[in-house]
This record gives sequence, structure tokens and C-alpha cells, in this order.
Amino acid sequence: MTERVRAQYEAFPYPPRDPRDETKRLIEGSPSHLLEVNHYIFGGRRDFRQPLRALIAGGGTGDGTIMLAQHLADRGCPAELIYLDVSKAARAIAEARARQRNLTNIRFVTASLLDLPTLALGRFDYIDCCGVLHHLPDPAAGLTILVSALKDDGGIGLMVYGALGRTGVYHLQAILRQLAADEPDIARLDLARRLLKQLPTTNWFARNPFLHDHLNVGDAGLYDLLLHSQDRAYTVPELAELVGVAGLAITGLIEPWRYDPASYLSDGALLKRVAALGWLERAAMAELLVGNLKVHICYAVKADRAATAVAQPHDPAMIPVLREGSGVESAKNLKPGGALTARADGLEARFALPRRAGPILTRIDGRRSLADIHADLGASEGARLEWPAFKAEFDRLYGVFNAVNKMFLLRDNN
Ligand SMILES: C[S@@+](CC[C@H](N)C(=O)[O-])C[C@H]1O[C@@H](n2cnc3c(N)ncnc32)[C@H](O)[C@@H]1O
Repeated sequence: MTERVRAQYEAFPYPPRDPRDETKRLIEGSPSHLLEVNHYIFGGRRDFRQPLRALIAGGGTGDGTIMLAQHLADRGCPAELIYLDVSKAARAIAEARARQRNLTNIRFVTASLLDLPTLALGRFDYIDCCGVLHHLPDPAAGLTILVSALKDDGGIGLMVYGALGRTGVYHLQAILRQLAADEPDIARLDLARRLLKQLPTTNWFARNPFLHDHLNVGDAGLYDLLLHSQDRAYTVPELAELVGVAGLAITGLIEPWRYDPASYLSDGALLKRVAALGWLERAAMAELLVGNLKVHICYAVKADRAATAVAQPHDPAMIPVLREGSGVESAKNLKPGGALTARADGLEARFALPRRAGPILTRIDGRRSLADIHADLGASEGARLEWPAFKAEFDRLYGVFNAVNKMFLLRDNN
């Protein structure tokens, strides 16, 4: 880690957070939402009555740490989270947030993740590394160190910058590096603001309206976006290589619909060829096609168990669960034969839902299994509903809701 990166996050803890806001809301996101972790790493089978050890590597001001610690505390899981970061200023904010929530399951450590081998923190069931690897001089070496602290049946949640969605960022970073590499932060921020006001309309950053940090996240956002001393971005194949070099395989990209070219195409001849591609090839193509992926969020496990890590809807004992809200509420907003609209960074996509989407959703409560929902639906229709007919409709509903990150699967209701 370079001293310059540490100094940046000491001066500008990221993202800026006010611990008092913890009384009003919980910030939830990806990676590290507990439903996602269970689904993409533990096959939906994790028993949260058992101890769980998690490392938040580069925890910053605490978003991932606080969310995961709260989710685990809400379930009564005997968990231990280790928050690790080089910035004392960021840690102070994360600690204050934990205090506001009376969270006692987090241990705070100030150190570099590169020093993990000498920190004697033990091994982990889950490691979160969100927005950190792309700031290391050697991200693959950093990830390999994280993997050395991962249990064989554990997994990692990652976020790295996306190359195409950040089009324009690196042009401005290069300009600012030439104009003001070694001046004090305050002068560099001033020059960055001046430059932003003078951008020709044809400049790629000016033509990329989906980058907001310099507008919404104050000095910390502007610095992080345009003045960072160590920052690179990844395409999907580059991310797969990074993960592969560390001995892992990707089990999920969030949100899945954004990584499927079929979300953006309707021409049958194109779709037929796309369908013949492998999953990662499709994801890489979706990135090239849509061009707006600013970050890549993924889950990964040790390569030898990738095939069994993700929860699948094949078993009638699986329990579908919604990320938020109730199935009844979700069903209320659906018209029969309706569609679900997903939006992200300037793009809207509509996904057709099956005929029984409403009645199935109404029965999804995080307790009923697929077998229960099938039986209940059949009884309510007063006619025989064969399992394959039910399953075909459920699979279509699940295909859409999981793709937009709204539905996951559990094996046991623990
Ligand atoms: C962009 S912030 C992300 C914070 C947090 N993970 C989040 O997503 O909100 C990057 C964080 O990584 C930390 N960091 C950078 N290099 C690190 C290293 N080698 N070891 C530990 N933390 C590091 C920085 O101090 C900073 O707090």
C-alpha cells in the first residue's frame, strides 16, 4: 500500500457518513447483504445459529461492516466481524456508527490487509473487500493474501471499478496528475473544480452523465474520483482473471440482469447466438453492449466448490425469500400478465412475468418452501396443479426477481 493512499483516506474518510444517521436508517447494499452471502456463497444452507467469522478488508467508514453486523445481530448469530482499515479517521466513524447501534460483534483493527499474514486474526467464513483492491499497487497479490485467510468452504464479496462505466474518469485523472501532482490537497481540489467547469462538451467525462461522486459526495467524492493516486478499473474478463489467479471462481455478479445481453436485446437471431455463449462470455458481452457498468460487484468461492456454492431452485424444500417488503405487497403492484421494470444508470429494461406471478408472490414469506407454495396454490385453485407446471412458472418468476436482486433462496429457515 502506498503512503499516499493511506494519507488520502486519513484526510478524506470514504464515504462520508454521520454516525447520528444510524438512528434513522440502515444503509443496505452489495456486496455483503446477508441474503446474498447465503445465496451466492453458502448455497442458501448457512445455519446462522452457528458462529460465523467475517473480515471486512478496507472497511472505510463502515457501510458494509455495519450492515453485515446488524443483519447477523438481528438473527442472533454468534458472529465475530473484524473491521480492518489503514485509516484511523475512517475507523473512528465506523466505530461511532457501531456504538450508535449498540453493535458488539465487531472488532476494529487498524492495519493494512497486506499485513494479514502477521496479524494473527485467524481464518474467515466470509471476507468483504469493497472498493479496495483497485487501490492496491498489486490487486492480485492483495486478493491472494485475503484468500489465504479464507476457510475452504467460505467466500468473498468484492467490488471493483468497472472500466467502461468509468469512461472519462481516467482522462481527467491524467490531466490533473500533469497539472498538479504534488500540490497540497486543497489546491488540487480547487484545480479539479476549475477543470470540471471548463470541460469541452465532447470530453468523455462530460459525456458520461452517470458519474456523480464529484457532485454528491463533497471533497471526499471529488478526490476519490479524479485525484486518486492509485486507481484502476476492470472489464469482466479482467475481473475473472483477477479472481482466478487467486484460486477463486465467480459465483454471482450483482445485479445479474445487468450482466445478461438478453436484458438489452430482442432480436431473435442475436438472442439465439447469445444463448449459445457461456455465462462469463455473456457477462463480458453485456458489459460491452450496455457500457454503463461503473462497478463490478461479485461473489467468489474457492474454484473447486464453485459448482455447488449458489442456491438453486431445483429442490422443492428450497424457500424463496424477498430482499425487502412482503410477497403480498410485491404482488399488489403487479397486473396479471404484467412485467417488472428494472432501471440502472440511464437504462430501463422490462421483464415479462408468468401468469401466476401474483398468486405465487403472495405466498412467498421466507418460511414456505416451494413444495408448500405449490400445495397451497393448487388447493386455492381447486384444480390439479402439476408440479412441472407450477415449477415452470416459479422458475420464470424467480429468473426475473433474482436477476433484479429481489429474490434469493434458503434451504432452512434458520
Ligand atoms: C473507497 S474506500 C471503501 C470503503 C468501504 N469498503 C466501502 O465500500 O464503503 C477504500 C478503503 O480502503 C482502505 N484501504 C486502502 N488500502 C488498504 C489496505 N492496504 N489495507 C486496508 N485498508 C485499505 C482505505 O483506507 C479506505 O478506507
